[in-house]
Amino acid sequence: MNILETIEGALRAVAYPEKPEGLYEPISYTLALGGKRIRPTLTLLAYQLYKDDVETALPAALAIETYHNHTLLHDDLMDHAAVRRGQPTVHRKWDANTAILSGDTMLIMSMRHALRQKCSDQGAWLDLLTRTMQEICEGQQMDMNFEQRTDVSEEEYIEMIRLKTSVLLACSLEAGALCAGASAEDRRTLYRFGEALGLAFQLQDDWLDCYGDPAVFGKRIGGDILCGKKTYLLISAFRRANRAQYGELLRLLSLPAKQGEERIAGVLKVYDELGVSDLARQRIAAYTDEALHLLDSLPVSVERKQPLRALAEKMLRREK
Ligand code: IPE
Ligand code: IPE
Ligand code: MG
Ligand code: MG
Ligand code: MG
Repeated sequence: MNILETIEGALRAVAYPEKPEGLYEPISYTLALGGKRIRPTLTLLAYQLYKDDVETALPAALAIETYHNHTLLHDDLMDHAAVRRGQPTVHRKWDANTAILSGDTMLIMSMRHALRQKCSDQGAWLDLLTRTMQEICEGQQMDMNFEQRTDVSEEEYIEMIRLKTSVLLACSLEAGALCAGASAEDRRTLYRFGEALGLAFQLQDDWLDCYGDPAVFGKRIGGDILCGKKTYLLISAFRRANRAQYGELLRLLSLPAKQGEERIAGVLKVYDELGVSDLARQRIAAYTDEALHLLDSLPVSVERKQPLRALAEKMLRREK
């Protein structure tokens, strides 16, 4: 069985209580909607660098994927997002309270999967996971704070996406290595590989939010522009803009919600004038390269590392 089938099978095998329906139905709805399963794949591939019995690391993989889906329920509520994976988000299909409480339950279920993970250093695994969870909250808080500002620097943005996104990819990899009994040095290298990969991943997500195909991406195009998210694209546009373009960006970003389409089209036009799409593509490629160099430096055979390399390269070209 391949890695993805192993993960899907394990997710399907999770039993949910039948009642209350309003609590558990949104959870199975979310987990059955698919998603790329990148994080649990990273966990199992990192485990496979050292050992072949990947099923051993499945509880950790399930903990991380369930936790990731928990963050999506809360994130969609915070970002006023109506569509995810091509389907209505939980707070739209049900309501905000459902997104909060079903989301909380997924966080708890995630911890219950985590407690089932057999690991020679159980303390290190739980410390890694819970530290990561807290860092993601820090990143999400920064992301929201930045909505109110127009002077966010590139460094601040990178630190924000490192926290909201990269640390979970890094944690996924380190968890696999930890379960397999890898050395502290290897774990550190894999963590850093995940951090660089995660920066490329979030930059790609920001890019797709403007230039993706909605049918493939599964989210509304322009959602970040509507929220006033300080993405790499917008920060680069502010930096490159002349006085008129700067003023135009500020005007567009202050348009009321009912003029959302004008706001999206106007901002994208300024992006085109300033060539920020290419700038973002270059940064994505640079972080992917940095990640691949870190993977190269890991003292494990090239054959064993090949699936991780292939995944990193595929992520660079992803459309969803
Ligand atoms: C979405 O993550 C949240 C981000 C960090 C951009 P994914 O793009 O991995 O979402 P799914 O799980 O594949 O739907
Ligand atoms: C994702 O940021 C970060 C977390 C979910 C923790 P986004 O807000 O960009 O993710 P999407 O685009 O909604 O998937
Ligand atoms: Mg979002
Ligand atoms: Mg968000
Ligand atoms: Mg996004």
